[in-house]
Amino acid sequence: MPVKNRFAELLPEITAWRHDFHENPELLFEVHRTAAKVAELCRSFGCDEVVEGIGRTGVVAVIKGRTDTSGKVVGLRADMDALPIMEQTGLDYASKTPGKMHACGHDGHTAMLLGAAKYLAETRNFDGTVVCLFQPAEEGGGGGREMVADGVMDRWNVGEVYGMHNWPGLPVGQFAIRPGPLMAAADQFEIVVTGRGGHAAKPHETIDPMVISAQIILGLQSIASRIVDPVKQVVVSVTTMQTDSPAHNVIPQVVVMKGTVRTFEPAVRDEAERRMGQIISGIAASFGATGELHYHRGYPATVNAEENTGYAIDVAAAISGPGAVQEAALQMGAEDFSFMLEARPGAYIFLGNGNTAGVHHPAYNFDDNAIPFGASWYAGMAESRMPVG
Ligand code: NI
Repeated sequence: MPVKNRFAELLPEITAWRHDFHENPELLFEVHRTAAKVAELCRSFGCDEVVEGIGRTGVVAVIKGRTDTSGKVVGLRADMDALPIMEQTGLDYASKTPGKMHACGHDGHTAMLLGAAKYLAETRNFDGTVVCLFQPAEEGGGGGREMVADGVMDRWNVGEVYGMHNWPGLPVGQFAIRPGPLMAAADQFEIVVTGRGGHAAKPHETIDPMVISAQIILGLQSIASRIVDPVKQVVVSVTTMQTDSPAHNVIPQVVVMKGTVRTFEPAVRDEAERRMGQIISGIAASFGATGELHYHRGYPATVNAEENTGYAIDVAAAISGPGAVQEAALQMGAEDFSFMLEARPGAYIFLGNGNTAGVHHPAYNFDDNAIPFGASWYAGMAESRMPVG
């Protein structure tokens, strides 16, 4: 199973869809135009069922195989949303909406899954059912979580799920993946340190929340360096600091800090949260101040099931050759396909995008040469997991 020849024929059409999405980027759950086009195309392919409005603006397209003796249902997922970035690519199909841009290649993911859907609806060369999951709001809105919460897995009996992301720096035609955790859980926090303000020249009459906050920031570094097992991964970054003091000669009353925690294992995540609370309240109390932690759990870690990772590798290797499938490095970035992988076993794979600018950069663009590889992988996952005969 090399690249499917049909995708060479479909390439101009798939590329045209991609460029249309690129020109018309939409953010988070507001992917109304994109979702409508996805649904319309899936109906035109003859998909057996197309349902809009799943997880607010997600689209589900169901394709039945030639036979269904396996009773299996394979979910294939693509994300549809863009980013609030001012595009600087100079492309003739660049964003028509200033301040919005497909800077993460979700236009490419959606187009490739549409291509796979068209091919699978034409050929039906599998024994079971394919459920295409087009999700909104990957970039921070938790569209994957919304689709799962909307019952997408149970409603269509999805047994396993597969997703893909393009990867700048990896040559086009190559893949990268790893079993187990691949991308991190991403949590946010807010710390409020309340002391007693006063004249900056009379610090002894105040409880200075600035100095206390500085010690808290340093104390939090011990979570990675002294609390969590050094062979496990954790990042605690304090990224903003605000006070209620407008002046160089006023010690503030309150300091508010914000930041993010990244982990791979639930136990490490729990420990980071628990120890942050202790460090913050303990350091603050030792100076007579109060320190509060408000911890908000975001996307969980993206964890590839061992067996399904093997299936994903086999399909990628069949398309591009075994030498073209690398072991991916752990990524501290997060991905909300993690919610689907919490609900069902499956795998998430990186697809080479060549030497482009990085994702979320104003000069980034998805490489259309990657389309036949990505579309073949989606279709190949369905065919190989539900072989006919
Ligand atoms: Ni992305």
